[in-house]
Amino acid sequence: MALNIILLGPPGAGKGTQAARLQAMRRMVQLSTGDMLREAVAAGTPVGLQAKAIMERGELVSDAIVSALIGERLDAAADKGAIFDGFPRTGHQAEALEILLGQRGRQLDHVIELVVDEDELVKRITGRFTCAKCGTGYHETFRPTKVPGVCDVCASTEFKRRPDDNEQTVRTRMAEYRAKTEPILPIYRARGLVRSIDGMAAMDDVAAEIAAVLDETAR
Ligand code: AP5
Ligand code: MG
Repeated sequence: MALNIILLGPPGAGKGTQAARLQAMRRMVQLSTGDMLREAVAAGTPVGLQAKAIMERGELVSDAIVSALIGERLDAAADKGAIFDGFPRTGHQAEALEILLGQRGRQLDHVIELVVDEDELVKRITGRFTCAKCGTGYHETFRPTKVPGVCDVCASTEFKRRPDDNEQTVRTRMAEYRAKTEPILPIYRARGLVRSIDGMAAMDDVAAEIAAVLDETAR
């Protein structure tokens, strides 16, 4: 059976990094509301126009918008399993996810919490950049390109940074996480779904810990 998992953690915890690995290694489907919103902003859609300024301030986009985005993409992950990356982020979004999964006869298998300390997060986010062509994620110190200025995957020499990856916006994003997202953890914990993983460990070690959690689910 396909697994449905949430990767939960503050900005820079490694949700996107680990989701991309799971997608590549296990053929699961990464559903990142942040990526969906950035695509909408780039395409200038009505959702993008609403979301742009909110994202640049580091605040949360409305529950209705992000829940609709997930609803539109969920069926594509039916056979393979879904990795929810950056969703849900509020109690209302958690309820919306239950409804969306229930309507499809599916359920949540794990909520994987990536635990990282706040000073490390600022370092991770301010050093992050991605390939402008294929989207591979890098970090100036923690995951540099093998050849300086050349993407390991597609050899492009163009890279980009997110407009919300500056220290001031990161602080707002963290405050939003503590105030609105962390409170959903006890609800999942009470259901026995939460597995907390040390997100300060090296990327390969974090990936191995997540793999161990998924492998023990015999379904
Ligand atoms: P979103 O895109 O989800 O951003 P975020 O939650 O702030 O998280 P990040 O993407 O910054 O971090 P990450 O955990 O993916 O870390 P990464 O793997 O890149 O959301 C952006 C905005 O969109 C929000 O602020 C909001 O406005 C809006 N939004 C999105 N979803 C929403 C929702 N559901 N509701 C309302 N609004 C929503 O890693 C970071 C860096 O660290 C990388 O450079 C990486 O190489 C490096 N790194 C990763 N792991 C390690 C490691 N183990 N050791 C060393 N370095 C590492
Ligand atoms: Mg991300």
